[in-house]
Amino acid sequence: MCGIIGYTGTKPVCPILIDGLRALEYRGYDSAGVALSGKTLTTVKRAGRISVLEEALAAGEAGADLQAPCGIAHTRWATHGAPTDANAHPHATDRLALVHNGIIENDRALRRELEEKGYVFNSETDTEAAAKLIDSIYAETPDPIAAIRAAAKRLEGAYALAVVFADRPKQIYAIRRDNPLIVAATAEGAFLASDIPALLPHTKDYYRPDENEIVVLDAEGEAPSVRFFGAEGELTHPVCTVNWNVEQAEKGGYDHFMRKELGEGPEGVRRTLTPLVRDGLPAFGLPLMDGLGKMRSMRIVACGTAMHAGLMGRAFIERLARMPVTVEIASEFRYRNPILSPDEPILLLSQSGETADTLAALRLARANGIPTAAIVNVIGSSVAREADAVLATHAGPEIAVASTKAYATQASMMALIAVAIAHQRGLITDEKAKEMTAALADRLPAALEETIALEEQMIEQAKRLSSAEHVFYIGRGTDYDGSVEGALKLKEISYIHSEAYAAGELKHGTISLITDGVPVVALSTDANTASKMASNMREVRARGGYVLLICTEATRAEVEPCSDACIVLPESDPMLAPICGVLTEHMIAYHTARVMGCDVDKPRNLAKSVTVE
Ligand code: M6R
Repeated sequence: MCGIIGYTGTKPVCPILIDGLRALEYRGYDSAGVALSGKTLTTVKRAGRISVLEEALAAGEAGADLQAPCGIAHTRWATHGAPTDANAHPHATDRLALVHNGIIENDRALRRELEEKGYVFNSETDTEAAAKLIDSIYAETPDPIAAIRAAAKRLEGAYALAVVFADRPKQIYAIRRDNPLIVAATAEGAFLASDIPALLPHTKDYYRPDENEIVVLDAEGEAPSVRFFGAEGELTHPVCTVNWNVEQAEKGGYDHFMRKELGEGPEGVRRTLTPLVRDGLPAFGLPLMDGLGKMRSMRIVACGTAMHAGLMGRAFIERLARMPVTVEIASEFRYRNPILSPDEPILLLSQSGETADTLAALRLARANGIPTAAIVNVIGSSVAREADAVLATHAGPEIAVASTKAYATQASMMALIAVAIAHQRGLITDEKAKEMTAALADRLPAALEETIALEEQMIEQAKRLSSAEHVFYIGRGTDYDGSVEGALKLKEISYIHSEAYAAGELKHGTISLITDGVPVVALSTDANTASKMASNMREVRARGGYVLLICTEATRAEVEPCSDACIVLPESDPMLAPICGVLTEHMIAYHTARVMGCDVDKPRNLAKSVTVE
């Protein structure tokens, strides 16, 4: 949901900002812009991708000082107003330029008020109201910290703002509320960004300012500095260090981040689960997690693909540990006045740890005294910082908008949690628990690698799907949970309409949509339901549908005769096979979108990190 970057230091800012924007482009790519602060404060912004902005800068647009050592930049995911030059950030006045990630909810009222003062608005954005509000206060009191603090009191909504003032050419001021912002200082400069990949080429050490603090990046003194000011005065923060490297955040020879990240899933699962195994058994080292077996039930709250990993987790936990689990869409959870109970902990799943709906659900739970645990990929993210207990997935940076390796690590973590609860409840012996733990920590990564090796078969099927108008996904139990994710991935990146149905539900309505050649992807890894799946596949074929089957050796004999094409997974274990099945669906979705020439890593209208409600 928009990416912001800022730098002030000893180097020309332009290349730093452009590289930073590229690293943040996954957050939105409707427009891009920079404000360069040197002898003058100039703003250059363009609808479209970063390359369009680069061309404008190279053409000497607006007399921009390309050698300026200070500036801020923005890549936009449009909320208020279409992706146009005027709506692009930064938004500037004679006194300042500002970039914003988030939504200002009272922008209309502020706009009216500022118009009455004589301000003329040039865009449809909510952000322009924030820029002009700060300008109006700064005109009266030329103190940046006081002006931003006073403006923040008037702003409703969520934001990370960065501001440069024309009369302070070597400083950047920033503030955040409910939106991510990280900052860093090196000998060469002070940096701010929405996310870690933008800082990785410069440093692995960074700070996370708290909400409502004013952050000052300054290159005026002897060494570039970052300082934090709360209501009571100056503050300090512990340094955070990320163990990601630049190569992980680059394509590394692949055409797309998505394909690279699909290949990184197996290692991500290995890195995630290995540290959680002690003496062959799951050991989380967190009282809440190690005592889950005593709880009555559990709630899982998440969005999108992370929520789908939660669905898979629910099936594992209920089947193995006999604990009732509900899975909630975070955006719904908060507004339906949920009935909460302290013996029903809430588990939040989030790759980014910054998803606004998930964060809001976490805060609601905490405000009601409910124990919370979070599974996050970005350590130090807001969800990670606020949950009572945190488990890290070690998928590494996920840049493609489509979440794939994060799903693999989340689903495998959920499987390990299921084994842990079942063992804590005495439902499985030590020996069985060790066997299952080894299957997850050792065999699953290998099985995922073997699944990827079936890529040629997936490419063949992707060619067929690429000409379809509609694709349906069916499965039962965990295979239905996997189908929901398969359908999301296909529609998200290829724009082919795709829907998942519980296979047994098809005949209650949806089968009317099956006509000659309509592809139906059937996931059948569960031997208990294979015969039922076979019947459902026959029903599809009887209406002319084309059944692409993903199965295992355990289900093959039953279901393969009812299919038009069949991919056999390398693993039949009931916990491992569905995760391999989803990887297969992810790979098929990737190749379908690639064959169609789609912008795989940056699908239309989407952004990686959804920090607005
Ligand atoms: O960062 P999160 O895991 O909280 O993100 C949740 C969803 O926005 C995300 O999984 C989304 O559905 C993916 N882009 C789908 O591929």
